[in-house]
Amino acid sequence: MTYDWTTSGPDLHVALASLGPRHAALEDAVRGAIREGRLAAGTRLPSTRALAGDLGLSRGTVVEAFAQLVAEGYLDARHGAGTWVADLSLAAATAARPLERPRRAPRFSFSPGLPDLTSFPQAAWTSALRQGLRAMSAASLGYGDPRGRRDLREQLASYLGRARGVRADPDLVIVCAGFRHGLSLVARALKAEGADTLAMEDPCAPQHRVVAAGAGLGISPLPVDALGARTDVLTASAARAAVLSPAHQFPTGVVLHRERRAAAIAWATASGGLIVEDDYDGELRYDRQPVGALQALAPDHVVYGGTASKTLAPGLRLGWLVVPPRMLEPIVSMRYGEDVHVPALEQLALCELLRTGGYERHVRRMRARYRRRRDRLLALLAERAPVLAPVGISAGLGVLLELPEGGPTSAQLIEEAARRSIELHPLDPHYRNGRAPRDGVVIGYGAIPEHDFEAALSALGDLLAASLPA
Ligand SMILES: Cc1ncc(COP(=O)(O)O)c(C=O)c1O
Repeated sequence: MTYDWTTSGPDLHVALASLGPRHAALEDAVRGAIREGRLAAGTRLPSTRALAGDLGLSRGTVVEAFAQLVAEGYLDARHGAGTWVADLSLAAATAARPLERPRRAPRFSFSPGLPDLTSFPQAAWTSALRQGLRAMSAASLGYGDPRGRRDLREQLASYLGRARGVRADPDLVIVCAGFRHGLSLVARALKAEGADTLAMEDPCAPQHRVVAAGAGLGISPLPVDALGARTDVLTASAARAAVLSPAHQFPTGVVLHRERRAAAIAWATASGGLIVEDDYDGELRYDRQPVGALQALAPDHVVYGGTASKTLAPGLRLGWLVVPPRMLEPIVSMRYGEDVHVPALEQLALCELLRTGGYERHVRRMRARYRRRRDRLLALLAERAPVLAPVGISAGLGVLLELPEGGPTSAQLIEEAARRSIELHPLDPHYRNGRAPRDGVVIGYGAIPEHDFEAALSALGDLLAASLPA
């Protein structure tokens, strides 16, 4: 027999077997629900009185069943306070397994993929959200346009035009869940129209190769040298589409040379090819005017992709594409089919932050802060590890350190770093074959909270001074 009730206290749904003693049937039902995970640890159960009333049992029967389940460790009861589902995993773990030491997070993380999350502009975001909610219409909470909110697309078009030189029409802006999602949309749209290969920088962010493979595309690698991605390899390849990070190649930090920019555009316009421009840290440039977006040179052949992952936080999952007109319908229909919309309230908040200038104020503050960090890091390296020549220092949140002959390998350096509770990342996994031509580590100086930065630098200096040849 199944009972549902809503009379008092938390709702509980259990099916009692119709045969046998009532307290045993209740015990079985609750035990089964806990074992199957339908009643999670910490769930509060209704009072014995309420449950008895709802199930049509005597209160004594329910008290008896609960007492049995407490004795078996399924429930926790605090006199006068109530009854909760116990944490069985804890009980089982301590009873059956030797103690596993929880992995301690390293004291200092030089992860290249993260900004300083402790600097997220909470107050500005909250007031943007509040303001957006006050001003929104009820229709804003409907399904909406698969490209994203119109007002946000207008704000993005105006901001990207001004700050990054993008030629953006709000109708061609698509709000997506970060650059990776944008890349996935483009890759799947390309596959749907018959493409089988995507040219990608080698090295690049490894997760982007996974996206391409997930879309069913083969990868044609573009080696990267001191002038950026090798466009001669691109023009000689059979690929009809390429992903480039021209403003600040990841992870080498090289800026695509102007002749290569021109060559990439010439390839796309002559062959009808498509460039996906990854402008992941386009706003974070320190020494001179940022290089403008490649997209402005050939908006009909470049998909521009940006993200809030470096300027605000990756957990927001907010990114944007500006697409050529011919790609709009295929990408929007891809989007429509998967129904991964960016939640309306996040869109509202970003829209307000852009409209009020709060986004750019935050970017300017963080740019100054990261620039200070970059300068401090370079000074430290010059002092404590003069054998190193950091690469890719003009922008972004990281530098590449190629390791000298006669010193530790990246694996040895990373192991020694871990012993000192410092997290370092190897260069190798960014290469398609898992091996960098020159061994190295990628140092991210964004992820560390501001208050810890000097301590982190000094720990890094000690590590490098102790590990590297003079
Ligand atoms: C090269 C590159 N592009 C883009 C991104 C941003 O990705 P997303 O917007 O999906 O967080 C990253 C993140 O680390 C990256 O390394």
